[in-house]
Amino acid sequence: MLKDRLALVTGATGGIGRAICHEFARQGAHIIALGRQATALQTLDDEIMDISGKSATLVPMDLRKHDGIDVLGHTLYERFGKLDIFVGNAGILGPISPVGHIPPKKWDELLAVNLTANYRFIRSFEPLFKKSDAARLTFVSSGVARRYKAFWSGYATTKAGLEMLALTYAEEMKNSSIKVNCLNPGPIRTKMRAEAMPGEDPETLPTPDQLAPLVAKMSSSDYDKTGHLEEFSAP
Ligand SMILES: NC(=O)c1ccc[n+]([C@@H]2O[C@H](COP(=O)([O-])OP(=O)(O)OC[C@H]3O[C@@H](n4cnc5c(N)ncnc54)[C@H](OP(=O)(O)O)[C@@H]3O)[C@@H](O)[C@H]2O)c1
Repeated sequence: MLKDRLALVTGATGGIGRAICHEFARQGAHIIALGRQATALQTLDDEIMDISGKSATLVPMDLRKHDGIDVLGHTLYERFGKLDIFVGNAGILGPISPVGHIPPKKWDELLAVNLTANYRFIRSFEPLFKKSDAARLTFVSSGVARRYKAFWSGYATTKAGLEMLALTYAEEMKNSSIKVNCLNPGPIRTKMRAEAMPGEDPETLPTPDQLAPLVAKMSSSDYDKTGHLEEFSAP
């Protein structure tokens, strides 16, 4: 479905992002994998090569440093001239604690990674999306964006903001070939989920590999929804 599509995945070294990269590679995309850890990115590149016989473009980047996103936009424009697929997947959980107990530095970090970085991607990458014949943007949200769950205010606020950002952008782009959607993965067996729910048996949860085909579907040029929140439930 994604043959020769150019796809950037953020948080590519994590549970869900890595599985998305594997699935995109299986479906023939060229992957631009963005993550913080250079060695984990290198391992991912080897995995992608094993799957598709093609190497990925690796972008080691800390998404708390937003100016790097502008530089990346310029670099991709010069190298590829367009971007077909963007998956805003990188995220952090932050403190699970009462509002008043969240240290200001942690609050700022949550906003920087989960929300502001995605705004900066939209701002810097729009010229790249416009050069694609069918750009598909997926932003990974969470069920808590629409629920009021005690002690989850930091993370939930960023995901609610992310949905508002993405779905408003979808509205602005509705007369273009750019489709913008959100995804609520539900509980998935990853490091973040284990950190959030340490008492839970991970074996009871769906894996990132089960989720990844839905992201591939949302990223294909045939997917024509926009301004939509897709909810995953394991088959
Ligand atoms: N797992 C679930 O049950 C679940 C449910 C709902 C929503 N989600 C969402 O799904 C997305 C992926 O989560 P996951 O479960 O796969 O978590 P994960 O395994 O912890 O992966 C998170 C990814 O984000 C990256 N990241 C974090 N901070 C970063 C920074 N400052 N700069 C660049 N990259 C950074 C991580 O890189 P490092 O390894 O370098 O930190 C990692 O690649 C997140 O947006 C999360 O909120 C997950």
